[in-house]
Amino acid sequence: MSKIIIAIDGPAGSGKSTIAKMVAERLNFTYLDTGAMYRAITYLALQKGIIENEEAVNKLVKALEVSLKYENGVTRVFVNNDEVTDFIRSPEVNSKVSEIAAMPQVRKELVRMQQQMGKVGNIVAEGRDTTTVVFPNADLKIYLDASVEIRSERRHKEYLEKGVEIDIEEVKNNIRKRDKIDSSRKTSPLKKAINAIEVDSSHLSVEEEFEILFENIKKKIELIKSQINK
Ligand code: DC
Repeated sequence: MSKIIIAIDGPAGSGKSTIAKMVAERLNFTYLDTGAMYRAITYLALQKGIIENEEAVNKLVKALEVSLKYENGVTRVFVNNDEVTDFIRSPEVNSKVSEIAAMPQVRKELVRMQQQMGKVGNIVAEGRDTTTVVFPNADLKIYLDASVEIRSERRHKEYLEKGVEIDIEEVKNNIRKRDKIDSSRKTSPLKKAINAIEVDSSHLSVEEEFEILFENIKKKIELIKSQINK
């Protein structure tokens, strides 16, 4: 069977990662967490003290290779050969990643790496522009959404589970700020692809959301298989 690409898009906290991992695991596809790559660059730029210097960030991203390894429910992230997995989900990275993700040269380099990863096998790609820019010809495009309140509650819970003490209002403000930057930036703004399936999960459990989507995915895969067998 030829390679299948499923792309999942949506705003921060919409449940993309959870759903993408579940779909990838159920289908035995490779899970491609593109956000982790923007986070890795942000972490490095913060470490080097060049976060406000776009030219220096451009140079940095051109000189390195980001790779991902999905293992036991966790995406391990490597920059060249150094693992940065444990550092890319801090509140500090969270608050700066949108700025890095708005840099056209950073996007160009990371999209190139992502498309390369997509050539290897069946994948579930998750992230902001995966349905519109990285894989515009994906076999199936999904757009997940939820209200700002629900998305903030989910992120807040994630922080608490990791032992990070943070006020929910701060999380909400962060999400609003990121939504604004992500949807108004010039390069690859967050938007729903025309032919994407849209699901609003504000009033759905993860399981309900997954079942709705998985029905669509199964139908699509059956259709692809039947076309191949014709
Ligand atoms: O999905 P996430 O929260 O890990 O994404 C981190 C940031 O990177 C977020 O601000 C959106 C941005 N991003 C992007 O611009 N394009 C992608 N393909 C993935 C993430």
